[in-house]
Amino acid sequence: AKSSQSLLNPNHILDISHRGASGYAPEHTIPSYKLAKKQKGDYIEIDLQMTKDGKLIAMHDETLDRTTNGTGMVKDHTLSEIKKLDAGSWFNKKYPEKANPDYAGLKVPTLEDIIHTFGRSTNYYIETKSPEVYPGMEEKLLNILKKNKLIGPGSKSGKVIIESFSKPSLMKIHAMDADIPLIQLLSYSQKAKISQKEINDIKKYAVGVGPNYEAIDRDYVQKIRHNGLLIHPYTVNRKEDMKKLLDWGVTGMFTNYPDVLHHVIKDH
Ligand code: G3P
Ligand code: CA
Repeated sequence: AKSSQSLLNPNHILDISHRGASGYAPEHTIPSYKLAKKQKGDYIEIDLQMTKDGKLIAMHDETLDRTTNGTGMVKDHTLSEIKKLDAGSWFNKKYPEKANPDYAGLKVPTLEDIIHTFGRSTNYYIETKSPEVYPGMEEKLLNILKKNKLIGPGSKSGKVIIESFSKPSLMKIHAMDADIPLIQLLSYSQKAKISQKEINDIKKYAVGVGPNYEAIDRDYVQKIRHNGLLIHPYTVNRKEDMKKLLDWGVTGMFTNYPDVLHHVIKDH
């Protein structure tokens, strides 16, 4: 592909399907990711946790309670224990208007389950969650990606993006493979501000930032863009907010509604 068509070209606005098409289907399940792809999301976003026996699974929380019928910490359960859980019924109960009988009894997928399902037919935007709780998480992640030829020789640039709130986790990954595009996630409780020094530091290991969208303004976006960094705010679910952020110059965003964002980008 021409570089102008590259996924990482800042003029290519990325539709990042947050936990899959999680506005319509139970987050981090295969149907949620399949729907994201059908709705033309550019990336499926995957949060990683690690089981007691060292397997990487797709789950947002450190605990099983919210998105399965299990309880307790992921790190205290083996994969085979977690595979017995129902990761879909909670959604039907919480969102009766979106409920689907097919969601009942869905399994928690491992990262490898997801890669085996989609192969190279989609792009992956993967977050190392709580890396301080899971030593070795980064090595395992890179090994799986390498084994499946999603990174390294012959892989397409931008096929995988790795994101984290943890700078040490991103630095570790950068030291292992400097070719993987990394996004530094940022969480602001007040109006977002970023100094030139902070930006220069992030540029040493990352290709962009992912701030919470409510905290940023046009100046923030422009400052990031003038420094040649990508900016992917999270998690943007309303059309009006999507349009505003595109006007400000963001290069993509996370959304639970990849279909809505797809149309907003097309019409922009
Ligand atoms: O990764 C971007 C966004 O997903 C960060 O927030 O809590 O949804 O993982 P969270
Ligand atoms: Ca995430």
